[in-house]
Amino acid sequence: MKINNINWICVETYEEMSRLAAEKLASQLKNKPDSVLGLATGSTPIGLYQNLVKACRAGEISFADAKSVNLDEYVGLDASHPQSYRYFMNDNLFSHVDIKEENINIPQGCAEDIAAECVRYSAKIRELGGVDIQLLGVGNNGHIAFNEPCDRFIGRTHEVPLTESTREANARFFDSIDEVPKSALTMGIADIFEAKEILLVANGEKKIEILKKAFEGDIDPDIPVSILLLHPNVTVIVTPEASK
Ligand code: F6R
Repeated sequence: MKINNINWICVETYEEMSRLAAEKLASQLKNKPDSVLGLATGSTPIGLYQNLVKACRAGEISFADAKSVNLDEYVGLDASHPQSYRYFMNDNLFSHVDIKEENINIPQGCAEDIAAECVRYSAKIRELGGVDIQLLGVGNNGHIAFNEPCDRFIGRTHEVPLTESTREANARFFDSIDEVPKSALTMGIADIFEAKEILLVANGEKKIEILKKAFEGDIDPDIPVSILLLHPNVTVIVTPEASK
């Protein structure tokens, strides 16, 4: 079905959501092996990545010519930190598929000059010719990447202080909330919006509720995901099934 311009697919289980979303990314790779894939971290895409790893091992898809661009990274955590997003991507996808190291792009959370890193990252995305398909999750408050509810949209890659609710939500991955970084680097709304196609995955009732509020209402930086109402090619795959 459609909610405004959004292709809305609601399935029963997390497995089904993961399978359908993986099929979409796999067919992108089959049609265009040198695709620029916009990737996300978080608990939602883990099943999807497992399906992509299986497909790659089975020889159905290859990442050999693909490029990846991740949405975000914590400031202060490097690739060796188990909670860095680079570590997550290695663990869940990159180490298990044939993607080339030089084709992996993630904002450098440990860059000496964070402002320069932000400019470099947005420029890099443009240099790659833009993202072919951008995978997104969504926060319970409607954030996409680390673009938190705000009074305006910020276009390009930037450093963002994390809200207490996001820090609390992410504290489950750290020993204590004090260890959760206080800021992150994130692709901006324009960086995300310029992707040719957007695929958002979400599971659990709370996510469905915020997405419906966003897509049935007005575009509002207080619910960042609502910007997708303006995008011509968005597919959202949701399931009420909560994370296990
Ligand atoms: C991750 C990201 C975040 C998550 C969102 C949902 O790269 O950009 O916006 O997509 O916080 O996270 P989960 O999937 O853990 O509920």
